[in-house]
Amino acid sequence: MAQRAPTARSHARGIPVPDRINVTLHVNGVDRKLNITPWTTLLDALRLHLDLTGTKKGCDHGQCGACTVLVDGRRINSCLTLAVMKDGAHVTTIEGLAQGDMLHPLQQAFIAHDAFQCGYCTPGQICSAVGLIAEDKAHTADEIRELMSGNICRCGAYPNIVAAIEDVMSGKAAHKTAHKAAQKSREAGR
Ligand code: FES
Ligand code: FES
Repeated sequence: MAQRAPTARSHARGIPVPDRINVTLHVNGVDRKLNITPWTTLLDALRLHLDLTGTKKGCDHGQCGACTVLVDGRRINSCLTLAVMKDGAHVTTIEGLAQGDMLHPLQQAFIAHDAFQCGYCTPGQICSAVGLIAEDKAHTADEIRELMSGNICRCGAYPNIVAAIEDVMSGKAAHKTAHKAAQKSREAGR
């Protein structure tokens, strides 16, 4: 007769697992204290415990990118991460990108380029694009497509998504160039 496997709750290899655990997340600039089961994903902590439902659950298996958020500035799939693993971390969700009434440049660009249809993938696409720009690894449309390939859009809005990201990147590049030119002219004037 098959033996019953010990439950994770009682013991895992002799290590007792608590029913609930205290976790503090700094979400969108605010400290949020949670008392959750140790197996709660970061995605469920955000959606079910903090009512931040902008972050979407698509596949729940790391395949679609709908759940992308920024943790300490880096983009991750929140469905593949336990909240307890991010205790003390800074988490930014789509709700945390705007500054008051001022949308984040990527949010503005997505609207300007009509870069969504149903909008379900959009929070993940935008958070992923914020991370992508911070990584500074994509410099062409092909590189954007490659490095955004973890974010699936079932509506097929890819051309407009890439155009929106390119727009923000080129704005950033233009800003950098203007900054460098100003610096050079200051140095020349010394
Ligand atoms: Fe996380 Fe699909 S819901 S990758
Ligand atoms: Fe519908 Fe991307 S806009 S899934």
